Amino acid sequence: MRRDQLEALRAWFGRYVKSFYSRQNASQAGIKLKEDHTRRVCGNIVRTGRSLNLAEGDLLLAEAVALFHDIGRFRQYAVYGTFSDRRSENHALLGVRELDRHGVLSGLAEEERSLIVTAVRCHNMLCLPPGMEGRPLLFARLIRDADKLDILEVFTGHYGRPNPDLKLVLESGPPDTPGYSPVLVENLLRQKSCSYGEMKNSNDRKLLLLSWIYDINFPFTLSEIAGKGYVEKIIGSLPDTDDIREAGRRLRAYMARRLEPFPSKILSRAP
Ligand SMILES: [Fe+2]
Repeated sequence: MRRDQLEALRAWFGRYVKSFYSRQNASQAGIKLKEDHTRRVCGNIVRTGRSLNLAEGDLLLAEAVALFHDIGRFRQYAVYGTFSDRRSENHALLGVRELDRHGVLSGLAEEERSLIVTAVRCHNMLCLPPGMEGRPLLFARLIRDADKLDILEVFTGHYGRPNPDLKLVLESGPPDTPGYSPVLVENLLRQKSCSYGEMKNSNDRKLLLLSWIYDINFPFTLSEIAGKGYVEKIIGSLPDTDDIREAGRRLRAYMARRLEPFPSKILSRAP
C-alpha cells in the first residue's frame, strides 16, 4: 500500500464517522469511544509491525486494517444503541458489509482488499479459523493483538478512575455483582480463552480480559502488557481468593517465560 492510498482511506473514515456524530451526550460518547479506540489501535498496530521489521508498505496496510477493524461499531451503535454483539449482531461482519456497501476498498489491489477484509472479519473471533497461514494470518494476528492491547488499556483505566462519559458504555455489560463464575477461573488456570457467553458479572469480564493474555501473538504486545501492569491492575480489582492469586501467578510466569528470550530493545523498537 502507498501512503496516499492510506491517506484517502483515513479521509473516508473521518467523513463516515462524522456522519454518526450525535448531539446527545450518551450517543456521542459511544461514537467517540470507538473513534478514539481506532486511533490508538492504529498506533499499536504500527508499533507492533515495526517490532517485526515489516516493510513500509505492509505497515501502511496494517494501519488500514486497524482503521477499519471496528468500522461496524458505528452503525451497530446507531441502529441498536449497544456495543453488545449478543444483543445486536456481530460487528465484524457488519463492518465488512459496510466496507463493501460503500466500495471503500475498490481502489486497492486484490490481495490488499482480501487481507483487510479477512483481518476485519476475524478480529473478534474467539480463535482464528484453523488452516489460516501466511499473510492473512499475519495481519489477523496483528489486529487481534493491537485491539486487545487497547481494550486492556480502556478497561483498566476505567477501574482506576471511572470516566462518567464512558460509564454508561463500559458498564452496560454484565452486572456488578459479587463473586465470579468458577468456569471462568478454571479456564484461566488452564490457559484457555473464555467466551463472552460465559460471563455472568463484571468480575467474569475481568477474568475474560485476563484470559486474552494467553492468546497474544507477539512479544511486543506482551511486553507492553507487562510494562503497563494490566495483570496487576485487574487482579487487584478482583476478589482476593486462592484461585485468583494462583491465576495471577501463572499469568506472570507465562509472560516472563515468553519474554525472556527478547532483549528489551527489540520489543521497544523506536519509530
Ligand atoms: Fe472490534
